[in-house]
Amino acid sequence: MSNFSSIYKLCLLTVTCCIQACSSSSRCPAVECWLVQENVNRRGATTQEKFLLHITTDVNSRDAASEQIPSDVNPDTVFFITDPAATLCHQSLSPPPRGSEQKAQCEISPFLHQPSTLKWVSPLTVSGFSPVYLQADWFSAALLGLNKQLVISSIMRAPTATKEPNVILTVTSKTVSVQARLGKPVLLDCGFWVDPSSPLSGSGFAVEWRYQFRGKGQLVLAYDGKSDRVADTQEEGARLDFEGLHKNGNASLILQETKVRHSGTYICTVYLPYLQAQVAMELEIVEPPSLSIHPSPLPLAVPGQTLVVQCEASGFAPLSLEMSWEFKGADGKSRPLESASVTGHRQAWDGTYGQSARLELDTSNVGTGGELTCVAVHPGGTRRASTSLSVIGFGSPSIEDSMAMVGVALLLYGLIKFVSWTFSSSDTDVADEETKKEK
Ligand SMILES: *[C@@H]1O[C@H](CO)[C@@H](O)[C@H](O)[C@H]1NC(C)=O
Repeated sequence: MSNFSSIYKLCLLTVTCCIQACSSSSRCPAVECWLVQENVNRRGATTQEKFLLHITTDVNSRDAASEQIPSDVNPDTVFFITDPAATLCHQSLSPPPRGSEQKAQCEISPFLHQPSTLKWVSPLTVSGFSPVYLQADWFSAALLGLNKQLVISSIMRAPTATKEPNVILTVTSKTVSVQARLGKPVLLDCGFWVDPSSPLSGSGFAVEWRYQFRGKGQLVLAYDGKSDRVADTQEEGARLDFEGLHKNGNASLILQETKVRHSGTYICTVYLPYLQAQVAMELEIVEPPSLSIHPSPLPLAVPGQTLVVQCEASGFAPLSLEMSWEFKGADGKSRPLESASVTGHRQAWDGTYGQSARLELDTSNVGTGGELTCVAVHPGGTRRASTSLSVIGFGSPSIEDSMAMVGVALLLYGLIKFVSWTFSSSDTDVADEETKKEK
């Protein structure tokens, strides 16, 4: 009996240990990372070497971490990083299951600290002499989590000639790629963390948001955190949450009302004295089209007539639209119709696009009519507009109809014959009289 209970206890212990080990390793995975640095032999060229980032949240557990590295990994190719904020422990940076193509991305490179001359940053380094604290090896790491869940930029300091850096500044964003509807408010996430034990932490910070599109850059907003004021803003309706900024390092940008021209890359940069880190994110304004059919309502058509119908799509962005036509007859089945042409696009004052599709509809193929639908497929969603189509007159005539038609035709023939006979006889009478007069 005691045997059984001790086995039981052993099992329980093993399971508990396993759970603890597994969970701690999944919380702080080792990250594969490229060390990119300037090639000492060739100026301008860079070299890339594969490294492993071993991350702990506590300096004291670093020794334990060094024991954890797999035996087939050369310890010279490992960075032992201490990240008290545990930002680098995000699950989206875990190695993916074997065989999967997707991977987190990571790059680490030597970082050159220097004072910034930007108007909203220079007050941070006003004393002019740099602290001894800066004399160390500095690195900057850029990480992108799986499925773009998270982007991280970290500045780390390692005692000279060690590969044991401490994270000093981290900037992150969870909105790496955002889509927003036109005219709605949008939040571009940016958060930062500063090691409170660093001498640089108490001396203020600055935040800058820049916008880039097709190679052209522009300042959106600059905030001088030392004197707590917005130093510059180039975009109406762009703001920060100043309380969250000072309390939690929430530097998210809020655009009050999105416009088409807001699509592009946004860069959030956080400055400490001598240090800076930045993350970039994409915003795309996606607005599906509004559709209208002209003429509306459609005129009554007779069989064999060709109806020209236009479908107007307007107010959409980006410029990516597929337009087509469908017809649903009396049988209730929809079938596609061949569109005659699609016009080139126009751009409206608000940056949205417009386009129209023309249909030349041969009404002899649509029976007595049905429902005509214009379909527009857009990244923002598919839109449809319908109108009813009526064709009057005979479809394919029945036997009775044919008989009646023959009857009517005969009657008409008789009538015409009679009328023409009456007229021609009176005509000859008149002609006779005239010839008589001439004589
Ligand atoms: C940052 O601030 C914005 C605006 O107040 C808020 O919506 C967002 O949830 C905050 N983010 C975090 C991580 O607290």
